[in-house]
Amino acid sequence: MSDRQKTRARPNPRRAFAQTYGEVLAAGIERRSVLKGLLAIAGSSVAMPFIGGEAKAAEVSTLRFNELKRVRDREDHWPEGYGRQILVRWGDALFADSPAFDVAKLDGKAAERQFGYNNDFTYYMPLTFGSDSSDHGLMIVSHEYATPFLMFPGLTDEDYREKLTDDQIRAIMASVGLSIFEVRKAGDKWEVVLDGKLNRRIHMGTEMAISGPAAGDDRLKTKADPAGKTVFGTISNCNGGITPWGTMLSGEEGSMDVFAGDFKTLANQELVERQGWDEEDNDIYGVGRIEPRFRFEEEPNEWMRFDWVVEIDPLDPTARPVKRTALGRFTHEGAQCAVAADGRVVVFMGDDDDFEYLYRFVSRDPWNPNDRAANRDLLDNGTLSVAKFSSDGTMQWLPLVAGEGALTAEAGFKRQADVVLNTRGAADLLGATPMDAPEGFVVHPKTGKLYVAMTENEDRLAAGEGEEREQVNPANPRGPNPHGHLLELVPPGGAEKPDFAAESFRWDVFVLCGNPAEAGEGAMFHPATSENGWFTDPDNLSVDLDGRLWVATDGPPPAGIADALFVMDTEGEGRALPKLFYVAPVGSECCSPTFTPDGKTVFVSIQHPGELRFDDDEDATSIADAGTNWPDFKDGLPARPALIVLSRNDKETLGS
Ligand code: FEO
Ligand code: CA
Ligand code: CA
Repeated sequence: MSDRQKTRARPNPRRAFAQTYGEVLAAGIERRSVLKGLLAIAGSSVAMPFIGGEAKAAEVSTLRFNELKRVRDREDHWPEGYGRQILVRWGDALFADSPAFDVAKLDGKAAERQFGYNNDFTYYMPLTFGSDSSDHGLMIVSHEYATPFLMFPGLTDEDYREKLTDDQIRAIMASVGLSIFEVRKAGDKWEVVLDGKLNRRIHMGTEMAISGPAAGDDRLKTKADPAGKTVFGTISNCNGGITPWGTMLSGEEGSMDVFAGDFKTLANQELVERQGWDEEDNDIYGVGRIEPRFRFEEEPNEWMRFDWVVEIDPLDPTARPVKRTALGRFTHEGAQCAVAADGRVVVFMGDDDDFEYLYRFVSRDPWNPNDRAANRDLLDNGTLSVAKFSSDGTMQWLPLVAGEGALTAEAGFKRQADVVLNTRGAADLLGATPMDAPEGFVVHPKTGKLYVAMTENEDRLAAGEGEEREQVNPANPRGPNPHGHLLELVPPGGAEKPDFAAESFRWDVFVLCGNPAEAGEGAMFHPATSENGWFTDPDNLSVDLDGRLWVATDGPPPAGIADALFVMDTEGEGRALPKLFYVAPVGSECCSPTFTPDGKTVFVSIQHPGELRFDDDEDATSIADAGTNWPDFKDGLPARPALIVLSRNDKETLGS
């Protein structure tokens, strides 16, 4: 979900910063390594001026491209010497028999054969699987949500629910979910392989299984599925991850707003409340009109069958996707996989909402690299944990196990199903650390360190204000935090043998986002960060062939820039020194940069272009006032979310 949408759901008066940079220091993070470099130069000043900017950066950073200027534009921008291709847009063909995109005639049947809307998770999987092919692969892409009044001409945010036709509603249901399709490089251009045998669309009507501790639970049973083990569709497919055996994990992030009716009629109001329901954001697609199961009064359990992690086998187009309930139910952003030293599989996950938590799942059994089928149900058994950060620079993963510690039967946690169906409630009881809307999570393949993005949290309070869980804490040190930050988590065992399953990690603040020239923002980047290189609202994170961290942003834009891609070193003299690499068209979020194994091509999803108006950055209310109609720029054609490809004209490695 775009940060803009979330912000709209929870209006909060903007306040001046309650904490200065000095107070942040006093709060006990002076040992942080980024900060050390900063202190040496900035002395006692609370501001961080642009010291040296690009000239200094050129000396210490390993990056060798000319940084872009901050820009806010209807078009997108990329560095000199690089090329950008639009690979596929919403409505483009994914199969040889796909109908041509015609927004006036779009229906469910057509949309099921086309690239979906609002692409988020994006992954290039070399074909054959396990090879290092950099010119033929499988693109695995999620489509998080739809905005009907920016898709179909003649609708506005006020009247679209009444005006949507049944065909348009069916088109919406088929335009979310996932697209899986082969891509190939032909000469200098990438193309979709329309007759690819693995090409597949998954959407709100695709049958899938429910497995793990909550499968068959009474709370997951419906009229259509009295066994509580089969569900049609996946919704709000945000980011995700890839398992070592090549399946995709898709995070369902906040499906509740698709449901219609009165949520106050639901039995479990405690859960409803804990999930943070917002009445105004109910029934966003009108689907309750044609599918009664999406109306609370008709089917009170259907909503519990979403907001899970879905495992999808992209290498078998006939395989049923499976909702893995052992990984908990919350607003899943992504699912970053790693392998522990003993072969157990570890999945790191963020719950993308203000004051929510970081989670980890460790499989009970090791994975089998020699028998892909043996891993089929590996994610049904294991231990889910939640993160608690301490001011001494350590963090603990607290197990969320029914019957252990505070998770007693008396407290409502008799069986593990009770835990996974109320994951947030269980984590509350253990005293987990409430984070500033955690999103991207990436494991650095060279150092074994993890990076986590906290997008922002304007509702974070200063010490001593309001409820304790909403106050600043060591890992979320600014209240309010409208700009977000990145944490670095360090498992024991070092770069050679990181123990991702260990109970305790160390942690550090990697960057505090914001404009370093504005003292009140309390930003912390490398002191040589230029006036173009700082960023806010970090969302998806990726690591490239050379070990550099790529940050894709998603947020209400600060003056003068649209959402963008930034790149930086994580080690050495250029650590935490970002450079601006790509700027998206106004109103878009950049998502999920993914690389070919040779490091020469990056694919990036451009989600919700034009969602903001150009003149004032307010939410667009129709196609007519959308901030852009990128990438086609044709009258009568709305802006179209798209997957782009960036590479160097001289065919060398990106960034070097
Ligand atoms: Fe889908 Fe958390 O952004
Ligand atoms: Ca986001
Ligand atoms: Ca996101």
